[in-house]
Amino acid sequence: MKVNRRLLFLFYFILLILLVITLNYYLKVTLKDSSKVFTKYFDNLLLNKQFLVAKLDDSFFDKESNKNLKGILTEGPNKYIKGIYFRIDTLKYVEKHGKQYFLYEIPLNLFNLSELSIKYYDIIAEDKVVYSSEPLKIGSKYKKSFFEEFSKSSYGFTFVVGYKAAFVIKLNLFVTMIFTVGFVFFYYLFYIEKGETEKMENVIKNLNMELEKIYESFKKHKRLYEFGSSPTNLESVSKLQKTIKSIFEEFRKIFSEYERTAEILESTMAELEETNAELMEKNLQIISALAEAVEIKDSVTGNHSRNVMDFSLLLADKMGIKEPAEIEAIKYGAILHDIGKIGIPEHILNKPGKLNDEEFEIMKKHTVYGEKIIKTIPGWSLVGDVIRHHHENWDGSGYPDGLKGQEISLRAQIVSIVDVFVALTEDRPYRKGLSVEKSLSIMKDMVGVKFSSELFAQFLEVLKERGYIS
Ligand SMILES: [Fe+2]
Repeated sequence: MKVNRRLLFLFYFILLILLVITLNYYLKVTLKDSSKVFTKYFDNLLLNKQFLVAKLDDSFFDKESNKNLKGILTEGPNKYIKGIYFRIDTLKYVEKHGKQYFLYEIPLNLFNLSELSIKYYDIIAEDKVVYSSEPLKIGSKYKKSFFEEFSKSSYGFTFVVGYKAAFVIKLNLFVTMIFTVGFVFFYYLFYIEKGETEKMENVIKNLNMELEKIYESFKKHKRLYEFGSSPTNLESVSKLQKTIKSIFEEFRKIFSEYERTAEILESTMAELEETNAELMEKNLQIISALAEAVEIKDSVTGNHSRNVMDFSLLLADKMGIKEPAEIEAIKYGAILHDIGKIGIPEHILNKPGKLNDEEFEIMKKHTVYGEKIIKTIPGWSLVGDVIRHHHENWDGSGYPDGLKGQEISLRAQIVSIVDVFVALTEDRPYRKGLSVEKSLSIMKDMVGVKFSSELFAQFLEVLKERGYIS
């Protein structure tokens, strides 16, 4: 069965988000529960009162430590408990009964909660840390962290537990999510689009299975995260890490392969472009040589074809022609427009005076001969069009087909108008070339006959831009 890959991608993405939300929810609930159990444990310690060590008088003098506690007691959380302070291995607090003060001392090894899941624990009173498993915090203002849970003891203290497991798991979830989103994005971009999916599909499938396994184990071992249980089972987390690592390796391998291939492709492309440019230049030289051969036969001096090409390309650009095939047709059509003259007898080509009707009929054929020669080159039908129709006139009086107005392709119209201009300005064996101004004044009379007024106006613009006229 063929799977719609985009749907698969979407399904996977939704599954991932749901999984992350569910895991987060489980973490929150289980950690909150165990935090409450912890607080209860603390309250029971206080309630038992089995840690009474001394009765104090008004002077608050602690005989054991030989200290007046009045100065060092941290402010208590309520009227009942006067204060709390700690020593290296005990937590002391003072309770008031009537006028009497009682000193209690709880051994800190009762708080030896070095379970894997617990990172630190703080006891807060009046927003101050009165006791902490991290001694540097004691006396400082309490700052809430992202990875802890807290609940209020019935004695007015706030008991805060920082969870190592929460930190590890949340961090893992975060990394997994970022990595997986990136991974799926990469997969989508480079493999779905390119159709090379089999290998990556397996990796995705494996990742999916691992994530599902972890989800199941969270459900099964929910109790492991509660206070008093055996150390947190981090097996799932390490499995996930291993999976991520292997996927990352896979990802890196694929990416470096891709990079290598891209580099090779890039250099090959650059070489191809260079070779192509060289070939194009050679082509142009050969084609120009062909055109020149006809020019010699025709006694046309100078670079007639090249000049027609240069002006035609400028005019094509002015007319907004951007299509590469059109530009190529204009370029080669302009160079080769008179190639058919190779088939016209020299005495007609070079006749100094006017041609008679019969001779003119023969002369007209150079357009048809030209197209016939070019027709043998595959893909050059547009070039053939330029050559066949470069003597068609706007009013339909041209040859060989007597096309009229827009029936003549714009590419042929362009070469046609430029051919007239270049021919007028060039020297011929029997006359000097005319000035640009004189040529244009002659051409002005041809507007509407040989070419359209719009094309003539645009051609004038080209000449203006190039500094031929002001
Ligand atoms: Fe011609």
